[in-house]
Amino acid sequence: MTFEYADRIKRLPPYLFAEIEKVQKEKKAQGIDLISLSIGDPDLPPPQFITEALKQEVANPKNHNYSFSQGEPEFRQAVSDWYKKRFNVDLTHDQVVALLGSKEGIANVARAFINPGDRVLVPDPAYPVYANGSTILCDGTVIPMTLLEQNNFQPDFAAINTEKAKMMFLNYPNNPTAATVDMQFLREAVDFAKDNNIILCYDNAYSEITYDRYRAPSILEINGAMDVAIEFHSLSKTFNMTGDRIGFAVGNKTLMAGLTKVKSQIDSGPPVYIQKVAVKALDTYAGPEPPEFLKQNNKTLQERRDLLVDTLCKIGYTCEKPNATFYVWVNCKGDSMAFAKKLLDVGVAVTPGIGFGAHGEGYARITFTQPKERIAEACERIKAAFELSLV
Ligand SMILES: Cc1ncc(COP(=O)(O)O)c(C=O)c1O
Repeated sequence: MTFEYADRIKRLPPYLFAEIEKVQKEKKAQGIDLISLSIGDPDLPPPQFITEALKQEVANPKNHNYSFSQGEPEFRQAVSDWYKKRFNVDLTHDQVVALLGSKEGIANVARAFINPGDRVLVPDPAYPVYANGSTILCDGTVIPMTLLEQNNFQPDFAAINTEKAKMMFLNYPNNPTAATVDMQFLREAVDFAKDNNIILCYDNAYSEITYDRYRAPSILEINGAMDVAIEFHSLSKTFNMTGDRIGFAVGNKTLMAGLTKVKSQIDSGPPVYIQKVAVKALDTYAGPEPPEFLKQNNKTLQERRDLLVDTLCKIGYTCEKPNATFYVWVNCKGDSMAFAKKLLDVGVAVTPGIGFGAHGEGYARITFTQPKERIAEACERIKAAFELSLV
């Protein structure tokens, strides 16, 4: 029997990371000590109060029934309370939807609003789900918005062809470039979306992973954003809970209602016990400042960041100390796939920039989700590989 993939699956671009992942697996199978600086999954554990709360909530038999497509009322209340404390933004219950991680919402929002041929403005480079899981799997057309280093990795709105554009994705603090933005940029983004009747999908998954007193804003802090925007958040990075699959979308009521319509036909909300744990996690914020454990978490990450960037610069690479995320976007001086493969030969896994889009070429994303000793060892290996290439 032969089963043919649907056309939309055939339209997905080749998975450029597959080759790298294959070599990584081979190296591991050969017993090679591979230092993985390639995935956006924190090595640090969730705070203990979360694992304790999880045990407690799982043990309660009442927490094992179906939830609602929109999420538990208690969870949605905790999200609106958090928005008030963290961003001074008021949200009503119909402006919050629980997600099985923000990736799910990013993919499903397009199902609710994108018709075949509708155009979706997607940053290049970017987290691949905007183009693939969201746009292409909903038969939309990807219109890349180039992010250039000289523009601080922000799109030039004036240069964008808005014809038939129905949706736009923006993500700051950014994966993979680690770029951040200020309120002025967000104001321009909201104006652009409103002027052109474009749904603005703002991915704020890294808002809480920040350094040097940088405070990541919410798009909903901008006047008028509620008319056009949906913002995605996640507990994955903030609370080191990537595997627990809990996130949320907030914003414009029609966008929330559309997303809920799709979700009600696909899932039944995140597990109740996870939502109850998430309430406890969000409630640790007393105001806009992060709670103590998060300050400690970010301090650990910041020390790693400093070690990684300082060493890379000493070796001769060009990269900035990011003030958010756990990524360093390094100018790798040429073919990013060749760079990544060369480092795999010395037991270091990094992500080639080309995997995030054509304009990611020439860069590599290096993640600091490993202890300092491992990062130091990885830098030694990178240095060795680099010196070898000079011979
Ligand atoms: C920019 C960005 N958005 C969203 C996600 C998805 O996170 P989750 O589905 O775990 O909430 C990720 C994960 O790496 C990401 O990098």
